[in-house]
Amino acid sequence: MVCLGNICRSPLAEGIMQHLADEQGLDWEIDSAGTGDWHIGQGPDRRSVRTARQHGIDISKQVCRLFSVSDFDTFDHILVMDKSNLSNVLAMARNDEDVKKVELLLIDKIVPDPYFDDAQFEPVFKLIENGCREFIARYK
Ligand code: 4NP
Repeated sequence: MVCLGNICRSPLAEGIMQHLADEQGLDWEIDSAGTGDWHIGQGPDRRSVRTARQHGIDISKQVCRLFSVSDFDTFDHILVMDKSNLSNVLAMARNDEDVKKVELLLIDKIVPDPYFDDAQFEPVFKLIENGCREFIARYK
């Protein structure tokens, strides 16, 4: 799960996908990262932590890290939140195999950045949850 800062959207996406995968008994390894380095080593944004908690998901222990080329080797799917994340990640792809792993979580639309608008965290949670449910239906 990849976004820009790895403190708002992708930590939610990691927590939600892990929660849903656990519920379905899927032994999936899920992680998140950002393409920007401002928040490395920090926990998720408190608004994301609170929104997740309201839905029974604890993301407070996550630690922000930078997306790295080695993620293409570690993971089968790289799910990005918006088109800027998409181009940043694709710019790091080494070959067609890497490129094929990358897709927008919501396929035909983006998960907007809620960083500057507190009211967007709940709608963003729902968008991500729907995307995760659809992903699980496709790949489980
Ligand atoms: P995210 O949101 O990409 O969903 O984690 C952002 C968090 C921080 C910044 C931008 C977006 N920032 O510029 O610090």
